[in-house]
Amino acid sequence: MCGIVGYAGGKDAAGILLEGLSKLEYRGYDSAGLAVRDGSGPVSVCKTKGRLSRLYEKTEGGKTMPGHIGIGHTRWATHGEPSEDNAHPHVSDDGLVTGVHNGIIENYLELKDKLIRKGYCFYSATDTEVAVKMVDYYYKKYGLGPIDAIAKTMVRMRGSYAMGLMFSDYPDEIWAVRKDSPLIIGVKDGETFIASDVPAILKYTKKVYYIGNLEFARIRPGEVTFYDLNGEEIKIEPTEITWSADAAEKDGYEHFMMKEIHEQPRAVKDTLHSLIAKDSDRSFIDLSKTGLTDETIRSLEGITICACGSAWHVGMSAQYVIEDLARIPVRVELASEFRYRKPILGKGQLVIVISQSGETADSLAALRLAKESGTETLGVVNVVGSAIAREADHVLYTLAGPEIAVATTKAYSTQLAALYALAVKAGHVRGVISEEQYQYYLDELQKLPDAIQTALSRKEDIQRFAAEHVATKDVFFIGRNIDYTSALEGSLKMKEISYVHSEAYAAGELKHGTISLVEDGTPVIGILTQPDLYEKTLSNMVECKARGGYLVAVTTEDRQDILNTADFVLFIPKTDPHFTASVTVVPQQLLGYYMSCSRGLDVDKPRNLAKSVTVE
Ligand code: AGP
Repeated sequence: MCGIVGYAGGKDAAGILLEGLSKLEYRGYDSAGLAVRDGSGPVSVCKTKGRLSRLYEKTEGGKTMPGHIGIGHTRWATHGEPSEDNAHPHVSDDGLVTGVHNGIIENYLELKDKLIRKGYCFYSATDTEVAVKMVDYYYKKYGLGPIDAIAKTMVRMRGSYAMGLMFSDYPDEIWAVRKDSPLIIGVKDGETFIASDVPAILKYTKKVYYIGNLEFARIRPGEVTFYDLNGEEIKIEPTEITWSADAAEKDGYEHFMMKEIHEQPRAVKDTLHSLIAKDSDRSFIDLSKTGLTDETIRSLEGITICACGSAWHVGMSAQYVIEDLARIPVRVELASEFRYRKPILGKGQLVIVISQSGETADSLAALRLAKESGTETLGVVNVVGSAIAREADHVLYTLAGPEIAVATTKAYSTQLAALYALAVKAGHVRGVISEEQYQYYLDELQKLPDAIQTALSRKEDIQRFAAEHVATKDVFFIGRNIDYTSALEGSLKMKEISYVHSEAYAAGELKHGTISLVEDGTPVIGILTQPDLYEKTLSNMVECKARGGYLVAVTTEDRQDILNTADFVLFIPKTDPHFTASVTVVPQQLLGYYMSCSRGLDVDKPRNLAKSVTVE
């Protein structure tokens, strides 16, 4: 997704903007640009296709662009191919308005036609140039200044946008505009910053403002004023960011992804610690911070989980655990599909939206659809103050800390832990599990960080396996029940960072067609942790071996017999079968990571992907 930064203060803006954009590189991009001005002088603009390093070279680290006010942008192409012309910032014909944008203006062609009829010309294929020139149009037509021009443009535009704007008539100001795409503002000691995400400004301030939907702000050095769609001034309280700037650094790891894989024990421990309380002689799960009451949980007739990607895999795992421990029917929906369905929801239902970023467009749309149907909603989110966190009726925060690598790891693990806690809580509240079982499950949950830590200790074996299979063209991940949901995540990790094609299959489904793809040497990775399904999955693996498959097993330490069948075994500590996805995912994360490294790829910023998909 695109990255936006802005600065108004006493220092040289260009260097600050370039550094801020470098903290947003993980969002994925294909071009970049800056617009900077010094006092009432003209706005100077510099853009480039490709990496930020080229913009750095073109501007000599910002030295060729003097000035204390500016906006910067990294573009993830939606409308128009990656090119210098399509890169942001975009500028109106006479330089009156300069702007950057993250999102999609869905009716940009209609607006472009209108502007062409009014005499406007266009040099790019982007929706952003149209948005900037719409602001220019209203600014000139009504002559009422930025507030009026911005508000009128917001009323006309459909879609999603976070924008940074500069007006040549207002040399000491930047304007920040938001609908659906994330945008935050930081203020400190005579300086003001805008950014798409916290890492870009965390070095300067931990006090940030989240612009609300259909709101905008005027930024001057050291101050910010917020407005609603009517142009009326509104008040927004600041949020204190709780994690440190270091947390958004690599701490000596080669990649953020490896750092975040290793942060999982701590992240899962912190998340569980935030949910499991203790009194005199017992532990219990305290969801009071979410606002989800025991009465609501007792009255539930059904749960729908909506998410995308890895978060959807978490939902798939949680379905088994919640249905088994709480006996509540659970449906798991891809948010991109759910949002266009006519779901049967309402009283007695709970919709849970799982999202690391809290900004995924499809997941946010699913949340809104659920709310429109009058259904209670719970967001399981990692980013404080994100759109889903703010719009859901209840919020359960995972405490993974900032996750920078595009491929999620610690957020996935903390989401699992959060949903496990919810399942155990619901089972106890609804009388499905006894007090003794409740304490047992709480003990088992609190063993997960150590189990994950142990699973991490086998990474050298995995690194060697990846190097030996670097040329593989296809990989199969198979399992049954919760193991199948873990296989889904393992397959996505392999695909998204090593670009090796893989399939995740319910082991019992293979013989219904896909086993035809298994050839001599095809790696088949079997996940086998469910006691009553172990033999069945093993049989499916043997069927693949009979067709030339190279068998890799991820199973618990007590299953030493598997060494007689599998070609490569990754043992993990035994945990309660409900919670094994938290541990089986670790060797699969490492496998994807090392396969990517063996292939010399950009692990943290895989091609075509973005950390948060804030557009449809
Ligand atoms: C996972 O490695 C991917 N980066 C992607 O599937 C991600 O899980 C998905 O886009 C959902 O993101 P969210 O959790 O921020 O909503």
